Amino acid sequence: MTSVDTTVGREAAGTAPGGRPAERWTLERGGTRVRLLTYGGIVQSVEVPDRSGARGDVVLGLGSAAGATEYAACRGPYLGALVGRYANRIAGASFTLDGTAYALVPNEGPNCLHGGAEGFDRRVWRAERVPGGVRLTRVSPAGEQGFPGRLAVSATYTLDAAGALAIAYEAAADAPTPVSLTNHTYWNLDGAASGPVVGTHELRLGASRMTPVDAAGIPTGGTVPVAGTRHDFRTARVLDAGHDHNFALDGAADGERFAAELYAPASGRVLTIRTTEPGVQLFTADSFAPPLPFGPGAGVALETQAFPDAPNRPEFPPAVLRPGERYTSRTTYAFSVR
Ligand code: GAL
Repeated sequence: MTSVDTTVGREAAGTAPGGRPAERWTLERGGTRVRLLTYGGIVQSVEVPDRSGARGDVVLGLGSAAGATEYAACRGPYLGALVGRYANRIAGASFTLDGTAYALVPNEGPNCLHGGAEGFDRRVWRAERVPGGVRLTRVSPAGEQGFPGRLAVSATYTLDAAGALAIAYEAAADAPTPVSLTNHTYWNLDGAASGPVVGTHELRLGASRMTPVDAAGIPTGGTVPVAGTRHDFRTARVLDAGHDHNFALDGAADGERFAAELYAPASGRVLTIRTTEPGVQLFTADSFAPPLPFGPGAGVALETQAFPDAPNRPEFPPAVLRPGERYTSRTTYAFSVR
């Protein structure tokens, strides 16, 4: 049987700060429909069937077609966003690389979170159609938010014949720089408006170790076993509140490894995440409150990534890209029912 390529549509999607027009692209294949914005690479909606075949939106997004305007006004929790140049925290918004100290833009107390105040999530990307979907590209200039070197970046969003979404990132730099890119979608497999995922969804993680952090979310050093702690998701269990931690994924470092499986018993929807990254941040959105249109625990973020603060942690897997090298990262989000 021949499989039909992803159907791709594009339309205007409001304006980013500074008046730059943004677009919304719609990808559809294998029962999945994804809408994403060239503003912030934001995944605005992902519609997949439940066990009765009814399609519903399983991510927390801001609704209308004028998406960019709404997301830009919401200085919020990175809903659906493409996060970079360095996802998660860099302690003291500083690091030393090859003997040179660099100061980043601090945007969470003294620390740098998700690439600084004006990260990749607040930029308009250039979009082009590619087989299976759409590729977003932009150049992050040398010194952007304090990061060294000019970085040419792409993020390619594709759907396969079974309706699985893949996001593949590539980057090249003209000077050594930390790089860690992720997507910050919050999932709610019973539907964005269905109420909390906390207490209803079951989660399994492919991680027997995690990186302990201090009260500010900064790693205190190394990894520790999850066995016997509240971080143990090696066997599926109902998601509880209060998670905002990076897990060290088991399995070989080459190719994609299992990161997470999220299951919603009410709708029967299952999300399976695999990634080339060494870590995944589990965040249960406990802080969600008005004016955000979602309450605490309304969605769960599973951010595949390098470890937090790796630029200051020699014991962590390295997250530095050097000239002549190519940063590649890929995460797949597969949907099924049970
Ligand atoms: C997560 C981070 C949380 C919170 C969230 C955005 O990745 O770990 O602490 O900042 O992003 O609201």
